[in-house]
Amino acid sequence: MNQAKRYTITAALPYTNGPVHIGHLAGVYVPADIYTRYLRLKQKDVIYICGSDEHGVPITLRAKKEGVTPQQIVDKYHSIIKKSFEEFGISFDNYSRTSAKIHHKTASTFFKKLYDDGKFIEETSEQFYDKEANQFLADRFIVGTCPKCGFEESYGDQCESCGTSHNATDLINPKSAITGNTPSLKETKHWYLPLDQYESWLREWIVEGHKNDWKANVLGQVKSWLDDGLRPRAVTRDLDWGIPVPVEGAKGKVLYVWFDAPIGYISSTKEWAKRENKDWEPYWKDKDTQLIHFIGKDNIVFHAIIFPAMLKAEGSYILPENVPANEFLNLEGNKISTSKNWAVWLHEYLLDFPDKQDVLRYVLTANAPESKDNDFTWKDFQARNNNELVAILGNFINRVTVLIHKYYDGIVPEKGKHFKELDKINDFRNSIGKSIELFRFREASQELINLARMGNVFLQEQEPWKKIKENPDEVKGIMFVAIQIAAALAHLSAPFLPFTSKKLCNILNIEPKNWDDVFVSETKSLIKNVHQINASELLFEKIEDDAIQLQLDKLAASKTLNEQENKVLVPQKDEITFDDFTNMDIRIGTILEAEKVTKTKKLLKLQVDVGIDTRTIVSGIAESFSPDAIIGQQVSVLVNLAPRKIRGIESQGMILMTETKEGKLSFLAPVSDTVKNGEQVN
Ligand code: MF3
Ligand code: ZN
Repeated sequence: MNQAKRYTITAALPYTNGPVHIGHLAGVYVPADIYTRYLRLKQKDVIYICGSDEHGVPITLRAKKEGVTPQQIVDKYHSIIKKSFEEFGISFDNYSRTSAKIHHKTASTFFKKLYDDGKFIEETSEQFYDKEANQFLADRFIVGTCPKCGFEESYGDQCESCGTSHNATDLINPKSAITGNTPSLKETKHWYLPLDQYESWLREWIVEGHKNDWKANVLGQVKSWLDDGLRPRAVTRDLDWGIPVPVEGAKGKVLYVWFDAPIGYISSTKEWAKRENKDWEPYWKDKDTQLIHFIGKDNIVFHAIIFPAMLKAEGSYILPENVPANEFLNLEGNKISTSKNWAVWLHEYLLDFPDKQDVLRYVLTANAPESKDNDFTWKDFQARNNNELVAILGNFINRVTVLIHKYYDGIVPEKGKHFKELDKINDFRNSIGKSIELFRFREASQELINLARMGNVFLQEQEPWKKIKENPDEVKGIMFVAIQIAAALAHLSAPFLPFTSKKLCNILNIEPKNWDDVFVSETKSLIKNVHQINASELLFEKIEDDAIQLQLDKLAASKTLNEQENKVLVPQKDEITFDDFTNMDIRIGTILEAEKVTKTKKLLKLQVDVGIDTRTIVSGIAESFSPDAIIGQQVSVLVNLAPRKIRGIESQGMILMTETKEGKLSFLAPVSDTVKNGEQVN
């Protein structure tokens, strides 16, 4: 492990527009917690920092939906989130919130410094405005088609499909999220961070400097954005919820949430330092500190590009050493969704499974979406509990402690002959530690189970229960080794299963040990003979089918509700005149050629014979049709739509499609095969 003097570990500040769910836990909070607990056991100077992200449009939208003020929303979810993290054993050194005074002050000062140092561009430009709602439409107040990948529900500041961050005015076909109206444009002044000026520095720092230690998914995204070219990003917004822009002539403007939120890591550190009577600055400014941001993949651009550029512009801060981002966790085959209530909420889990924190921690780690999206299923949850925690880890501990009580009244016998299993303890400690240091938490958790597995195999091979009569001395030696493995499990499980580790230490009547002290040799053991252990207790209990069924029923109820809501069709649009209709020139055409637009998921570039000519049309249908399958397909085409550039290709018309709620597309093709290209649809 890199011998840094100290570590500042951050976990993405959760938005307080809803509670925390298993996707957040698996992606960010559990891995960061394992990492931090491990560093503490390595006796590192480490802080684990987080807090609630309480600004931004999602909060105001949620407040609107619930008919309350944004402050009420953040208060409500801040306390739910904070409490559930605590109960779940997420061991933050500090959990702050961005509505805290100290944060407003820290963020304002940061902005002011950049402003005074001339790091911003001040520019008046036209931004989207909703006349009916009487407000500017920033970020999630606006949705439209992503200019990069063609996803049709991209937000103004970021596309959730491809992760790209963009300016709202780049969206194709923008719509207000408040009224659904097509927005108009209105002039307004904002401050921009000229990211383009940081491009070559970023490239050198990340693409060159971190090519070997950052995760492939993170490097991949960073490279793709750098290759597309960075542009100045507005760091202020016309909104009434947020931190006021601390300069003259900025009335009614607040800091962009993604400008203030990451500074929240700094404010939260300050809050911690104050409480602990420590100096915060070394944790952010000393070159011997490693700053590590744990995030989900939708946060990569902000933590790998924008925040580092801000820190660089400010000048006195260190930069992140690593940004271990995870992919997404799905639930029972579908994307987790707050609005569709398709989630396992942490606070509800804790009610349904009190005292089973470690089971969820384990399942989310063993199945973490480290390099690709993964699926959480309740059946897998049950299976991992019953087949791994109960049948392997719990079973081993139970066998050892029961036998020690039975043979020796709970007193550890003396060491006998040397078994190779004893040396393996050190190897396991090393390999688990190594995996954690490389952010491979799945692998680490499986190594932990393998250690218990080794214990079971050892007992199975040695069969002390058969030897106890004729060879009691040999059994002493066997049980001595077995209890050393049990003690190693107590210590090495601590980062992953903190509750279990504690319970196991109690059963074995031992104190927690630092990581490097989990070491055995000819002369050193983890538990000495004559040590008295406590009564044995089951570490884990089997989860029965009915408990799982209850959870599945809960999800099924959400699904039914969503389906009912989905049956409601979009209401009829506003009336149009006959001329409006005849102005549209819709014709039958045939697709002659089709190819994927590179680097997009949705777009196909088509050559369509529409009778009057053959033209290029870019269409967002690649997820429903493969290029080969649609050559020769007759389609209806709106031919007099003004040409527009999509991903640099001029699209000269639009293919008409029907689309289900789930996004399934079908062509509108003539039923009769005698219809010729160029014929009009009237
Ligand atoms: N609230 C953001 C999200 O949930 C994460 C903010 S991370 C921070 O996606 F860096 F801004 F704090
Ligand atoms: Zn996109």
